Amino acid sequence: MISLNNVHKSYVTGSNSLHVLKGIDLEIKSGEFVSIMGSSGSGKSTLLNILGILDNYDEGSYYLNGSLVKDMSEKKAAKLRNELVGFVFQSFNLISFKNALENVALPLYYQGVNRKKRNKIAEEYLDKVGLLDWATHLPSEMSGGQKQRVAIARSLISQPKIIFADEPTGALDTSTSYEVMDILKEINDDGITVILVTHEHDIASMTQKIVRLKDGRIDEIIKNGDLKNFQHRYAKELETA
Ligand SMILES: Nc1ncnc2c1ncn2[C@@H]1O[C@H](COP(=O)(O)OP(=O)(O)O)[C@@H](O)[C@H]1O
Ligand SMILES: [Mg+2]
Repeated sequence: MISLNNVHKSYVTGSNSLHVLKGIDLEIKSGEFVSIMGSSGSGKSTLLNILGILDNYDEGSYYLNGSLVKDMSEKKAAKLRNELVGFVFQSFNLISFKNALENVALPLYYQGVNRKKRNKIAEEYLDKVGLLDWATHLPSEMSGGQKQRVAIARSLISQPKIIFADEPTGALDTSTSYEVMDILKEINDDGITVILVTHEHDIASMTQKIVRLKDGRIDEIIKNGDLKNFQHRYAKELETA
């Protein structure tokens, strides 16, 4: 589903160039639940934006569902995004003057679906994230965890195959973080590939595969069975940091 080979990315500002990704090789199969973990500034968001075709890369190759994502026209990129991809962000990105139902229904509005139909479908997705009773509430009336659940429902309404989530629990306290992780896990159980970015090792350890970024490279990939070992080692690293 996702295949990267030797992907490089630099940001050029004026005469300065910052080499952020220095040769990323990565395979992610359909149905996986993956976290990309690394310290602040390690290039996690850069990598996720490339995966979600929100940004370009400089060298190497990226295949998404068999299509080479490189120098793609915006039209083709938009088509791929619409067919395959949903996004969830740390800051929820809800529209403040629209209620929960309208926020969830928004992608369907852009697809030209009439109000009655889109509201009915949005209700199903609000129900899925346990917020049907909150349909008429504005984001300002909701907790951070609830807002993120609305954002997740909105990301699901276009029936994506992959959800990309950039620090989805970054603005939440521990218990609401777990609520959001539970929903992402449920979505994954429904067969959707979930790829999230986090700098928190306890969030990462709730996923099946941890891709650890360090100095622009993949430092290691930790699979389900090795998570205990990973937590142990990571704790040691923190002690000596
Ligand atoms: N648009 C940009 N222009 C210039 N530098 C950027 C841009 N986006 C990110 N960077 C820099 O690239 C590095 C990696 O950023 P990012 O991918 O956001 O890291 P992370 O998400 O792991 O915190 C950081 O040093 C950041 O300042
Ligand atoms: Mg980031």
